[in-house]
Amino acid sequence: MVSENMEKALNAQLNAEVYSGYLYLSMAAYFEDEDLAGFANWMRVQAEEELEHGMKFYDYIIRRGASVTLSAIEGPQTEWDSPLAAFEHVLEHEKMVSGLINDLVNLAIEEKDHATNNFLQWFVEEQVEEEENAMELLAKAKFADGDNRLMYELNKELGERAPSND
Ligand code: FEO
Repeated sequence: MVSENMEKALNAQLNAEVYSGYLYLSMAAYFEDEDLAGFANWMRVQAEEELEHGMKFYDYIIRRGASVTLSAIEGPQTEWDSPLAAFEHVLEHEKMVSGLINDLVNLAIEEKDHATNNFLQWFVEEQVEEEENAMELLAKAKFADGDNRLMYELNKELGERAPSND
């Protein structure tokens, strides 16, 4: 069992992960409008990963005999000033999510909930990867900003991202 407090916090994180998926899907739609299908592909794959993250919380809540309570998903931003602005937003968002995961770990430690702490460690590692990917992407977008040829190449590269299996 998990505490009532932890049940609430895990459900909040489930919502945050689905919201992340919604945000990235919104960025995918923005890039489609900008005729950057490769950028849109990257965001769409990212959105699918976020929904998988949400499902990890969903499954864990159920496995611990707690209840999943789905709450309203906030409407995400729909427009960005430039591809660069969108990628800056990705990095900021992932840093924020890392903070949420850290808060959850702190709660698990406080409650001496070792099982939940153990479950959360996958997300601690995942957030290192998420921030690393976002920083890499932002660096590339900065480099290509205003250069049509480099943007074309980056669009091609991001179009090759395929869904991962974890
Ligand atoms: Fe599920 Fe991008 O953090």
